[in-house]
This record gives sequence, C-alpha cells and structure tokens, in this order.
Amino acid sequence: MHISAHAQVGLVLAVVTGVGSQIAAAQGQPASAEQVRRGEYLVRFGGCHDCHSPKTMTAAGPAPDATRLLSGHRADAKLPPVPADALGPGRWGAITNNDLTAWAGPWGISFAANLTPDKNTGLGGWSASQFIQTMRTGKHLGIGRPLLPPMPWQDLDALTDQDLTAVFAYLMSLKPVDNQVPPPIPPMK
Ligand code: HEC
Repeated sequence: MHISAHAQVGLVLAVVTGVGSQIAAAQGQPASAEQVRRGEYLVRFGGCHDCHSPKTMTAAGPAPDATRLLSGHRADAKLPPVPADALGPGRWGAITNNDLTAWAGPWGISFAANLTPDKNTGLGGWSASQFIQTMRTGKHLGIGRPLLPPMPWQDLDALTDQDLTAVFAYLMSLKPVDNQVPPPIPPMK
C-alpha cells in the first residue's frame, strides 16, 4: 500500500491531537491535516453553515454559533406553527426559521442534520464512503430514504471522491455536539 507524506503527517497529528483517531475509525485510514484543511475550505464555500449551524446574533447580523458549529437544527428550538395559507401554488415556495435550520415546503418540514462526529446524534458512525454514497444518490447512507429539500446534495455530487472525502474528514474533526435533530414532519393534508 502506498502511504503518502500527507498520510504520515495525519498519523503524527492523530497521535498528538487525538482528533485523527476518530477520522481513522470512521474512514479506515487516518485523514491528513491537508485533507481537513481542504474540507474546511469546501464546507465554507459550500454554504453548509447557512443551514447546518445554529446562529447567534452579532453586530453584523446572524452568524454561525461557534460553540455548536454544524450541529444542525437545535433539538430544543421552539418553532411557531406554519401559517395555513402561506405555502402553495401562487404563494410562497418555502419558509424557514431564523436559524435557517428548519424548512417548510411542499415536502413538509425538514430539519438540517447534525454533521458533527457525535456518535449517537451526528455522523460519528458514518464512513467516508457512506458519506460519498449519500451525496451521489441523494439517499440516506446511499440506501435509505431520499433526502428532502433544501439539502443541495446534487451540488455535492459535483465534487470528486477526493474532495468529498476531504469534506468528511473536516466534519469528523469538529467538536462532537450532542443534538438529536427531529425527524422530518410530513406535509399537511
Ligand atoms: C439550503 C440548506 C442546506 C445547505 C446549504 C446544506 N444542507 Fe445538508 N441538509 C439540509 C437539510 C434540511 C437536511 C435534512 C434533509 C432530510 O431530512 O431529508 C440536510 C441533511 C444533510 C446530511 C444528512 C443526510 C442523511 O442521509 O442523513 C448531510 C450529510 C448533509 N446535509 C451535509 C451537508 C454539507 C456537507 C453541506 C455543505 C456542502 C450541506 N449539507 C449544505 C439542508 C442544507
């Protein structure tokens, strides 16, 4: 097996920081520091924080809550009811909460997932290849239910396996946040 210099750097970092060990467990091989950096870059450009990070209000407007980055729709958030006549043909296509983590539309209400490496409530149990398959198929873990809007999985499908692996490596390097995102709510009849 070819072991790149990057993989070796990752190995050293894994020992020093302990972060790499989670990635190693999920991926079967340690992620390099370069992969994590590339993943962070792609996550910022990909707008993942817009929907997947709860917000705090700052002088410059709402910003991702640095203590809960990419931890998804807050389990303890209270949402107002969706006004009965807000959505529909000739009305609004979708509405969202102030955090942009909950989305109501013709598909019902979807809640942005917890992307942190928390084992029970996040992606801690996922492998890189399950992450890649999810983005290639638009189905949960590549085999489950279709992902609901507005998750832009078609846009992630444009990335190479290498870049998706980097995105996953970055997600696995985040602070795990225990946050059980609610399941989607089916459309009102
Ligand atoms: C416009 C809002 C939006 C953006 C931007 C967005 N997501 Fe999502 N994402 C969602 C929603 C909503 C869900 C939940 C969908 C569902 O329950 O079917 C989701 C679900 C997911 C899931 C869970 C899939 C599963 O099978 O459980 C992953 C992984 C994910 N997003 C990764 C990302 C990454 C990485 C980015 C940035 C490149 C991103 N998302 C950008 C809204 C968004």
